[in-house]
Amino acid sequence: MDYNHFYNESILNKEYFWRNQASKIAWFKTPENILNVDNEENYSWFEDGELNTCYLAVDKHVDEGKGDKLAFIYDSPVTNTKKQFTFLEVKERVSKIAGSLKKLGIEKGDTVIIYMPMVPDAAFSMLACARLGAVHSVVFGGFAPHELAIRIEDAKPKVVISASCGIEIEKIIPYKPFLDEAIALASFKPSATLILQRDTQRCDLKAGFDFDFETTVTASSPADFVTVKATDPLYILYTSGTTGKPKGIVRDNGGHAVAMRFSMEYVYNAKEGDVFWAASDVGWVVGHSYIVYAPLIAGCTSIIFEGKPIKTPDPSTFWRMMEEYKVNVFFTAPTAFRAIRKEDPESVYFRKYDLSALRTIFVAGERCEPSTIHWLRELTQKPIIDHWWQTETGWAIVANMMGVAQLPVKEGSATKPVCGYEVVILDEEGEVLGPNQEGFVCIKTPLPPGCLPTLWNDEVRYKESYLDKFPGYYLTGDGGYIDTDGYVFIMGRIDDVINVSGHRLSTGEMEEIVSSHAAVAECAVIGIADEISGQKPLGLVVLKDSSNYSDEQIQRELIALVRAQIGAMAAFRTVVVVKRLPKTRSGKILRKTMRMVIDGVPFTIPSTIDDPSILDEIKEIAVTAKICKV
Ligand code: COA
Ligand code: AMP
Repeated sequence: MDYNHFYNESILNKEYFWRNQASKIAWFKTPENILNVDNEENYSWFEDGELNTCYLAVDKHVDEGKGDKLAFIYDSPVTNTKKQFTFLEVKERVSKIAGSLKKLGIEKGDTVIIYMPMVPDAAFSMLACARLGAVHSVVFGGFAPHELAIRIEDAKPKVVISASCGIEIEKIIPYKPFLDEAIALASFKPSATLILQRDTQRCDLKAGFDFDFETTVTASSPADFVTVKATDPLYILYTSGTTGKPKGIVRDNGGHAVAMRFSMEYVYNAKEGDVFWAASDVGWVVGHSYIVYAPLIAGCTSIIFEGKPIKTPDPSTFWRMMEEYKVNVFFTAPTAFRAIRKEDPESVYFRKYDLSALRTIFVAGERCEPSTIHWLRELTQKPIIDHWWQTETGWAIVANMMGVAQLPVKEGSATKPVCGYEVVILDEEGEVLGPNQEGFVCIKTPLPPGCLPTLWNDEVRYKESYLDKFPGYYLTGDGGYIDTDGYVFIMGRIDDVINVSGHRLSTGEMEEIVSSHAAVAECAVIGIADEISGQKPLGLVVLKDSSNYSDEQIQRELIALVRAQIGAMAAFRTVVVVKRLPKTRSGKILRKTMRMVIDGVPFTIPSTIDDPSILDEIKEIAVTAKICKV
């Protein structure tokens, strides 16, 4: 296939292109109205289509006589458990979970929060919600009660599904106490919880409010799938914005199903029967799209992995699983490979395994530096495909579309726009920039099927965050450029969002928490480069004159505060006390300049800076604290 021809058709002949792709999924009512555009801000895909996403992912395969094919493999090195589930087994379990939710009062359109570790019942619960037309919102298990409370407040779930505990490297995370605390903090109260008791650590249940997952599911009758409209919401996934309030990204049913199927064929080149492994977590968009929905819709076997690339028990885990389950397509965040390389620099573990089934490795979630790509390609002798996307889109914006034609790889670029995405680079005034000119990476609206139609309960914020800055374009929040060959280079966020180990976090939110401490006069939190996690947060604080805190005392308290409010995975471990922060004459803190000073990359002193000598002070403090790269 010719990439240019296929891509151009998706842009120039949108309705024809997506009607054709939509015809490949089993609708209950095939849409006639493919793209409905009111104006450049308001549009919808497949408006009159009707379907059920759980049916597409599960029942359809059973109906087609493929019920005995494997849908999920569960491998949990942290609990020494391995299990496999056929499509028929998934259908039975999901139908009974749906029956339990129904018994607890869940109907089409209701919301359910799922706060669970990486266990099969997390994926099954998502599918059970989809089956009922209920809207799930999965909250990553690493989030602290405060973050969970914010999501409960906003999503207003009738029911929360959770577990007694999760298991991380060498420690148990008690989910149930976190959930109890979150419910106490939120002013909205769910009417019930369903709690999966895990043998590693059980928890107390409150009679009449907390229901034991296994007992309830066993006692429930299976519930059938319902018909939903293409534009009905399938899920809400909260992601970090620039403030303490996360954005509730909404995903619809119809566009999502079409996009998931399309991406499996054309981006990942994955076929029915393939083993597709996305080593992520169902709490992130990668987990939603490529652990649960897309592989199942495409009839692949998906892997639910409860472990880490290292220390569970060692850096061989990924390679071991690829051999054991004959993984054909693998996808993870670059951090995972950096961690493996650090723990196994001579690739001793790697050499023990046979990766002959593996065709391609995909990376995304954060920028992947060329050295990691080189190392991985040399080591595995497989194509390493970097692709760029975000929670908002739900699937790749820029990629080397492996199911179309593999284009030559250019280091540092995720290759070319995926079908349906008209990527442009704009300057501050909204003018389209030419080749190699860096600016705001934007996408001309309408975005293709599957991308966010709005933010949950907040159309105003949706427009303000993504559409208002450049009318007619969606603002991705990333900066970058397109070269003369049309390759897109993503250079990093242009807002207060950072990526720590592939986890998207808001430095704006961290600043809000740090400045809530009584001794802090002002602060800045910036993302500085880190060898393993890509970026890590650094807090710079100015103390009030009245403060009698020692540096060590304030550092300890601020680190504990961010950990308690956001969670351990924010990895907020470094705070330095400074006398002043560099600002423009109008009082804006120069965060980007500080980041460049500390990362040791060349920069020009902004002409608007009030007092350039503060940058030298910051550098000196960073050098003394051994956090500076130079
Ligand atoms: N639940 C609870 N806590 C969690 C968690 C979860 N799901 N995930 C991470 N944490 C905690 C960790 O236990 C750690 O706590 P600590 O400060 O008490 O030690 C903290 O958050 C920081 O975690 P992390 O930075 O991930 O360090 P780690 O040593 O646990 O693991 C890696 C390092 C590289 C193995 C891990 O970051 C990793 O697998 N990264 C890939 C991430 C990924 O796949 N992202 C998907 C996005 S596409
Ligand atoms: P998330 O919404 O958590 O998936 O994070 C999305 C953000 O991660 C993007 O806006 C980028 O900043 C970054 N990102 C994701 N994939 C890539 C990639 N392949 N290259 C560079 N940055 C990436």
